[in-house]
Amino acid sequence: MDFAQLTRDLEALRSEALAQIVAAPDTAALESLEVEILGKKGRLTGILRGIGALPADDRPRVGAVANTIRQAVEAALRDRSAAVGGAELRARLLTERVDVTTPGRPIARGSLHPSIEAMADIARIFSQFGFVVHESPEVEDDRTNFQMLNIPPDHPARDLWDTLYVDQPGYLLRTHTSPGQIRVMQAMRPPIRALLPGRCFRYEAVDASHGFEFFQVEGLMVDEGTTLGDLKGLLDQFARAMFGANKRTRFRPGYYPFTEPSVAFDVECLVCGGPGCPACGRSGWMTILGAGMVHPVVLRNGGLDPERYQGFAFGMGPERISMLKHGITDLRLFMENDLRFLEQFA
Ligand code: PHE
Repeated sequence: MDFAQLTRDLEALRSEALAQIVAAPDTAALESLEVEILGKKGRLTGILRGIGALPADDRPRVGAVANTIRQAVEAALRDRSAAVGGAELRARLLTERVDVTTPGRPIARGSLHPSIEAMADIARIFSQFGFVVHESPEVEDDRTNFQMLNIPPDHPARDLWDTLYVDQPGYLLRTHTSPGQIRVMQAMRPPIRALLPGRCFRYEAVDASHGFEFFQVEGLMVDEGTTLGDLKGLLDQFARAMFGANKRTRFRPGYYPFTEPSVAFDVECLVCGGPGCPACGRSGWMTILGAGMVHPVVLRNGGLDPERYQGFAFGMGPERISMLKHGITDLRLFMENDLRFLEQFA
């Protein structure tokens, strides 16, 4: 291999490559030509492999020729690529035309889940009375879920709440939102008007009126001189805002370890309005929540002096409220997320 031969090979490569590039039909062809000519294993490198056999004086001259060829090939690739690229773009724009007169596709709109909707309604009504939403944890300790609420270990009242425990000893999934009462009292001073919505869990066999997972909304008011009358007045106004003006309500005695006295709060049957029907078990009344005056032991556990402060608390199930309001007869519908059910609330 001598200098003249190498130069001839390089010139031949130049004219052949430039001709191929000008004839390349599209971007893909140009990309493979680039690899084939200038790539690591390309034709230019192939020819330059012979450079080592040349006398040292000749090598820079061959190198210079090779460089001009590389630059010429690169420039030709750029030009041709701009030309075919422009043509390809024009062709695409012609075929991918957008018809701006096509009617738009409606965007599917979701809606609030009925549990969430009921909680929002409850929060809206109580916020008109100055209640502020607070949060408390779903994984709770036994102390706050039970003991601080006047339910000692092994107390028979624990039968009211079948509990799901977690691996960590002393911790459980809260069975009600009432531990939030303790957390709010520990966190702030009266006057307290707190609303605590949240998910609760119980070890229950699932049926039309029991779930292992459901929501509750807890209410707590603590101040000097708070009475059972205040509770009754507030709940009356709540029931009428939620279920309709002029609805009759009643208190019945109830039992919870953390309230004294404890009550159940009923509203007149939304189906029959009083005389009794299958929906209300022929009683004419529907129970919507449990409530009572906060037990002095609970106030003390919350860090408050029961001689000075009184309070009431109530707890309700938004699913139950929603069932009564909409005539839904199976609690399981709230957890199954069947669109045929959910879309009725859109
Ligand atoms: N925590 C009670 C329950 O789970 C409801 C309740 C709340 C009762 C507040 C009285 C006061 O059933």
